[in-house]
Amino acid sequence: MAGPELRFDNKVVVVTGAGGGLGKAYALFFASRGASVVVNDLGGSFKGEGASTKAADVVVDEIRAAGGKAVANYDSVEHGDKIIDTAVQAFGTVHVLINNAGILRDISFKNMKDADWDLIMKVHVEGSYKACFLRRCCCNAGWLLQCSKAAWPHFRKQKYGRIINTSSAAGLFGSFGQCNYSAAKLGLVGFSETLAKEGAKYNILCNAIAPVAASRMTQTVMPEEVLANLKPDWIVPVVAYLVHESNQTENGGIFEVGAGHVAKLRWERSKGALYKPDSTMTPGAILKKWDQVKDFSSASHPDGPADFMGLLEQAMALGSNDQGSAISFKDKVVLV
Ligand code: NAI
Repeated sequence: MAGPELRFDNKVVVVTGAGGGLGKAYALFFASRGASVVVNDLGGSFKGEGASTKAADVVVDEIRAAGGKAVANYDSVEHGDKIIDTAVQAFGTVHVLINNAGILRDISFKNMKDADWDLIMKVHVEGSYKACFLRRCCCNAGWLLQCSKAAWPHFRKQKYGRIINTSSAAGLFGSFGQCNYSAAKLGLVGFSETLAKEGAKYNILCNAIAPVAASRMTQTVMPEEVLANLKPDWIVPVVAYLVHESNQTENGGIFEVGAGHVAKLRWERSKGALYKPDSTMTPGAILKKWDQVKDFSSASHPDGPADFMGLLEQAMALGSNDQGSAISFKDKVVLV
């Protein structure tokens, strides 16, 4: 059942890393559904070496040949503000940002060089941040001004924005030889969850996906017959729904997508154990109730720190029985 056709007429969509793989599939789709698309790609290798304008140009040519609207941008996402500048110059604003560009620098932790760690962080984490928001200084008649670049100010002003950040199973669960990539990809989950909270009142929704798809990134690690069933096209509809205006509620989610399987992930907290926070809370006391700490039979699914504060209050109350009054975290802002 195909369902209603979700269109993107009059929407400006920026897709980073759109010269190949998943990004190309997104760009072709959004253009075919009426969007004006910025096709960003640095055009380097999957390890982040080199650069070429060809990757983005080929996709833009394909979109235009089919009657669609697209412009190319060849900047690295490390300069994400320039990508958004391209959207604003060509189409006046930006409505949807798909942070998709990515590279791999797989190597065991023992052998990792700083450069392997730094480049992964720059492309995945900083790249996503800088396309969303970058405040840079510029000089105007001798005065230093702060100019807001990138997508977030446009989203806020027009009270409309949709962001997808691209995480990975490697980030959610860990993956041998990918500690740099895992750290970056889980970082993007926290980034999404926070943008979702900060953007909600401006109708800016932000979700993260953990895709599995055939691309040059996965072609060496999966057998051909498996790859044949993992088309990037099977990731596109989920992303398209999440960034469509008909999605008014799905915000801050994490979705596992691949080969026609779509599922939402969430955090789970065991009921846990309560200890009196005094000198009786020894490592031995922890050991005694460790089975309770890790018992998920009465688990809950937190989506914010508020209920955690309730649990802290319960623990504090145990400790304060001797001293009289319990301490309440209600209405307190707690920064950790
Ligand atoms: P891909 O290698 O086919 O596509 C990535 C694109 O990003 C390339 O066209 C590349 O030139 C571009 N790119 C790389 N660095 C860039 C930079 N600094 N600035 C601008 N563009 C840059 O790989 P694929 O599979 O399509 O990956 C897309 C995203 O999905 C990545 O973030 C990847 O980490 C993520 N992902 C992919 C999975 C898969 O199964 N294919 C699994 C989990 C996550």
